[in-house]
Amino acid sequence: MDAIDVIRAKRDGAQLTPEQIRWVIGAYTDGRVPDEQMSALLMAVFFNGMAGEELAVWTQAMIDSGERKDLSSLGRPTADKHSTGGVGDKITLPLAPLVAACGVAVPQLSGRGLGHTGGTLDKLESIPGWRADVHEGAYLAQLRDVGAVICAAGSDLAPADKLLYALRDVTGTVESIPLIASSIMSKKIAEGADALVLDVKTGSGAFMKSADDARTLARTMVGLGEAAGVRTVALVTAMDRPLGRAAGNAVEVAESVEVLAGGGPADVVELTLALAREMLAGAGRSDVDPADALRDGRAMDVWRRMIAAQGGDPDAPLPRPAETHVVTAPAGGTLTRLDAYALGVAAWRLGAGRARKEDPVSAAAGITWTAGVGERVTAGQPLLALRTDDAARIPRALEALEGAIGVDTDDRPLPLVLERITA
Ligand code: URA
Repeated sequence: MDAIDVIRAKRDGAQLTPEQIRWVIGAYTDGRVPDEQMSALLMAVFFNGMAGEELAVWTQAMIDSGERKDLSSLGRPTADKHSTGGVGDKITLPLAPLVAACGVAVPQLSGRGLGHTGGTLDKLESIPGWRADVHEGAYLAQLRDVGAVICAAGSDLAPADKLLYALRDVTGTVESIPLIASSIMSKKIAEGADALVLDVKTGSGAFMKSADDARTLARTMVGLGEAAGVRTVALVTAMDRPLGRAAGNAVEVAESVEVLAGGGPADVVELTLALAREMLAGAGRSDVDPADALRDGRAMDVWRRMIAAQGGDPDAPLPRPAETHVVTAPAGGTLTRLDAYALGVAAWRLGAGRARKEDPVSAAAGITWTAGVGERVTAGQPLLALRTDDAARIPRALEALEGAIGVDTDDRPLPLVLERITA
């Protein structure tokens, strides 16, 4: 097999054969195909796309570059969730213990990634003592004893994706639906869960800005999950405004704990329950109502055990910022715009997110807000609290927020759940 033939075929719009795909992914992963040839192939895929079958083989080859985990020894159903990410999206934190409290084990392997706020692991690391690294034996033991693990993915989880994603990042080939879908799904399928629920966000603060692109990505990923024998459902959900009342790291943990205590913002509770119901149904437990486990404290018990199992102290105070700057409502009326992208950039400038993989994030940085879209505000009421360890960051965060808040404008917020997509 020759890489140039594979590149030419894709460049000229042909469908790659399964043999070509398996060979090129395998040879790239073990260093026989160099970056420059893989870059050319990725660009050809970017322009010419991939047919359904071709993409399923491509994804399977990425999975086969590492190990697909076998969770059958747990003796109970398993389900996982993936979100394409958004501002204030802390849903994994209450969701994993909630679903575990309903009898379905949740194996959540996460990466850190780049974003406006930290990833799930960064958020959890704001809990004193909590460790993201869990070795294989402890991982299975925690899944068995507690029912939920959220931890760092090891190097055996779709290693081809690690290489391909880094190459896409520097070759302008990230924004390709087949490449995004295969990247996400190779990691999620390799986790070994029986069922998977995808939360595909759309709106200014989402990776997929347009609802049509979000739907296409959702359909593509559902198809890949089902082709690999994983029951997969996607919800396309709103990210034109941020979720809940907090974006950052420690502030999102605090809000998740409120939800687990039976309170918390209505949109976070609604989406957590919607995703929990999908996970339970996919795992064959639609007879269980997750709202009961939130109400009666079972989900909170699992959360406390899940945090403690990874060295965290669920009772320890969370880091607090050195500086807080309040932004007031510009007018009285209905809050019609709280732009997710602007809040995300502001939170990032306050120190909550990172620009490069190796950068640290600030646990205490972020933004909290007192009213959500659709609620009444009075002129001059404290609306946003900008939290940071470094006051010098505040002016740039305020610049990002210019035009982000609208009262009585004609913005039409998206419904929280736009669509449910199944195979
Ligand atoms: N997240 C991933 O894991 N992969 C992509 O390609 C894009 C987002």
